[in-house]
Amino acid sequence: MSLLSLHASQFRNLTAVSFNAHPQFNLVVGSNGSGKTSLLEAIYYLAHGRSFRTNRPQRLVQHDTDAFTLHAKLSAQQQTHSLGLKRDKQGELVLRLNGANVNRLAEFAALLPVQLITPDSFRLFFGGPKERRQFFDMGLFHVEPNFFDCWLRFNKVLKQRNALLKTSRHYDNQFQFWDEQFVALAFELQQLRQAYVTRLQQAFSELTNADALMQQLSFQLQQGWPDKLNTPEQLLQLLQQSFAQDSRMGFSQHGPQKADLKIKKDQVSAEEVLSRGQLKVLLFALKIAQNNVIRDSGKKQPLLLIDDLASELDQASTRQIFSYLRDINSQVFITAINAEQVTPFIASEKQAMFHVEHGQLTARTDNDGRTK
Ligand SMILES: Nc1ncnc2c1ncn2[C@@H]1O[C@H](COP(=O)(O)OP(=O)(O)O)[C@@H](O)[C@H]1O
Ligand SMILES: [Mg+2]
Repeated sequence: MSLLSLHASQFRNLTAVSFNAHPQFNLVVGSNGSGKTSLLEAIYYLAHGRSFRTNRPQRLVQHDTDAFTLHAKLSAQQQTHSLGLKRDKQGELVLRLNGANVNRLAEFAALLPVQLITPDSFRLFFGGPKERRQFFDMGLFHVEPNFFDCWLRFNKVLKQRNALLKTSRHYDNQFQFWDEQFVALAFELQQLRQAYVTRLQQAFSELTNADALMQQLSFQLQQGWPDKLNTPEQLLQLLQQSFAQDSRMGFSQHGPQKADLKIKKDQVSAEEVLSRGQLKVLLFALKIAQNNVIRDSGKKQPLLLIDDLASELDQASTRQIFSYLRDINSQVFITAINAEQVTPFIASEKQAMFHVEHGQLTARTDNDGRTK
């Protein structure tokens, strides 16, 4: 699947931008504040219906205007789709798919899987477990058809349980009723996640097979309750035992809502032993391995949006990351301040370069920077 073209208007500083995308590498080059991140944000917004920089959509509307619009043409499974989205400052959202109005953004998300890597993605290591759950659950969402339904059902039960914790004084039958469902869904989720993490680790190991440091890393999925409790009955017992403490705290301490992924080198967490540059390489390897798992699972091919690829990296690490990117077959958008940071690593027939200046975009066809 790939993005064929995009038109964005009144989105941040992009007053009216149109381009035809290259099926492989699209390099977006420009100085600070020119609009590079905004361009990635526009693509991300179409795919997710939200931004990665703000949760206030009115911030995305260009100053002194009332609404932004995004139009894209996509090719997915030999079909072309046209997506349109308009959002105004009051929050009204209009979505069109192939000329007809649609109500749910999820229809766009299913057509346009996107993975994003920005300097903020370090949160995957330094942020809480939620960041890591979101990471592997995104892969599961695209790879495992039963996952999303199971996840939704579990979250409903968890909500019920947490609400009940605030009102019940004793562990009664009603509690037991919810906990039995909680436990069944917890084990279902855990099995899907474990199978997925095993696949992810396999893909990671293949991707990084030439790299000694990456090969020394091990992945461990923490299920969200003690390892030694490996039957539903044992987890049910734990929930009963922690009732008093759970209700004091007002939430459930054990369960798949607490799952985490630990990445370790010699029993020590990666973020404690790897340098920042090495962590950035690890971050790319993880995301690209996830892309490969999604690709290998069937029809989907996520887009990769990479903001500021070269920042904090030396030449050798940049080369290493491009060696991971070489065989992914996904469409990639990369921003950089200078073209020289990235162009030497990609064959010229595989890339298109776009120059951004004050929210204006020009396509360049050769490395001399002559505009077509
Ligand atoms: N709603 C908006 N309307 C107009 N300009 C905006 C809006 N939001 C942000 N900007 C401006 O857009 C410019 C581009 O930002 P950004 O895409 O982050 O640049 P880059 O990634 O190239 O450094 C910045 O100068 C920013 O001040
Ligand atoms: Mg930027």
